[in-house]
Amino acid sequence: MEISFSKTQIKKVEADVLVVLVKDTKRRGVFGTLDKAMDGQLATLAAEEQFEAKQGQQLALSTLGALGARRLVLLGLGEDLPTELGEWIRVFAKAYRAAKGFSTTSLALTLSSSSGALLTECEGAMLGAMLAHYRFDQYKTKDDPTTSIESLELVLPSKTSTSLVESLESLKERTSFLVEGINTARDLVNEPPNVLYPVEMAARAKKMAKEVGLKCEILDEDKMRELGMNMFLAVGRGSAQPSRLIHLTYKPKGRRKKKKPVLALVGKGVTFDSGGLSLKPANFMLNMHADMGGAAAVFGAMRTIAQLKPSIEVHGYLAAAENMTGDAAYRVNDILHAYNGKTVEIHNTDAEGRLVLGDTLTYACENGADEVIDLATLTGACLVALGKETAAVMSNDDEMREAVEGAAKQSGESIWPLPLLEELRPTLKSPVADIKNIGGRYGGSITAALFLREFISDDVKWTHLDIAGPSFSDKDNDHIPKGGTGFGVATLVRYVLDRA
Ligand code: BES
Ligand code: MN
Ligand code: ZN
Repeated sequence: MEISFSKTQIKKVEADVLVVLVKDTKRRGVFGTLDKAMDGQLATLAAEEQFEAKQGQQLALSTLGALGARRLVLLGLGEDLPTELGEWIRVFAKAYRAAKGFSTTSLALTLSSSSGALLTECEGAMLGAMLAHYRFDQYKTKDDPTTSIESLELVLPSKTSTSLVESLESLKERTSFLVEGINTARDLVNEPPNVLYPVEMAARAKKMAKEVGLKCEILDEDKMRELGMNMFLAVGRGSAQPSRLIHLTYKPKGRRKKKKPVLALVGKGVTFDSGGLSLKPANFMLNMHADMGGAAAVFGAMRTIAQLKPSIEVHGYLAAAENMTGDAAYRVNDILHAYNGKTVEIHNTDAEGRLVLGDTLTYACENGADEVIDLATLTGACLVALGKETAAVMSNDDEMREAVEGAAKQSGESIWPLPLLEELRPTLKSPVADIKNIGGRYGGSITAALFLREFISDDVKWTHLDIAGPSFSDKDNDHIPKGGTGFGVATLVRYVLDRA
């Protein structure tokens, strides 16, 4: 989708569909301008259709040649105009979806904010439209008959200064880097598990790294065995597909003025989670190809980071394995020696994410990370606690957790804190080993995080995001498509930029 800016008069904008956001249906303002161009017909029609520009109300009509645009869609904003980026993204994603169909190939959106807020509105328009534009249709052998929007014209207020237009052009480049990162993550999540297994994920990481200039190191099973990552390796033992630990590195060029922390992003990359011998029931297994949403988010974020080139060192680790039931599968009551030396008794092979992550977190700390963020589709309990659209955030450092929350808020991603309750730590006690891999019946998201904490060095700040809900969507919703959502990419990128 090609994006351009213009200051064209609203009635002269040429497009298949023109979407205009309206606060009210008064004669002054944009509604009045349009109504005048349409000889007062718009007000009549709006009254007939009971369109009052209330929030979320839509009025779509053919302009019958009265405007440059073939069709007009009015989108009500109501009294409270959006202020935050996330709200703008949703509004413009709705605008994009309202314009889809009607053989629309060119779309124009009008922006209305005055200079101060225009950047945020414009970023929201680009993100909203581009993210809603995403489709995963490469496995459809017949083309979808609904044509796709090829050009997007953002119509700016006529008084917008030239220098502001210039900064919008650079914003456009940065925004498209972010969208590409998010859509890359979505693609990876949507790939079926017979196509995207750990070795394939490693191959794609290598290719991506080469394209954008990252270092990429792949640890195969021999290497992991040599290092002693037995907890990670156990998860993949029941699968015909060997595991991989993928390590991406971004180092800024040139010398830095002040010393900055080394950041590590760690993602759970279980390319299919059958549950292992603690097998999932059939209906719980559906969509478990998406159990690598954390790794996908780190993959996409590293890609965007390489393009945005912040002045801070960032490592990305993807812990890729397939959890199956083959004859070499790890068992319940197995005792494993983790990479950090702790012994772990397996009580449920479906609690596999924490095992691949545990060894990977140790490795990230060992490689000199000062701050670690991990993302994982870790627990069903997280969906019970916070619903489908919100990730849980837990941390060993309140200040870092607040910084991650701030980055999420700025990105329009919903995360909410859960406490790392010490009183639940005893539920991880094993009668025979140092620790077992599941807690008790309650507080499942918290005990999973407490398990991960066992593999973080004392001097390392660590924040865990349980993205089991928001990384996959059952339905199209504003800028979020059905399937892989790319959740986490925007927050990670924002956090890294904030720390640079
Ligand atoms: N991948 C699942 C968690 C999950 C469930 C993600 C639903 C997305 C949607 C994870 O590996 C898992 O199976 N967790 C178990 C842990 C339990 C055995 C302690 C769970 O949540 O039931
Ligand atoms: Mn599982
Ligand atoms: Zn899992």
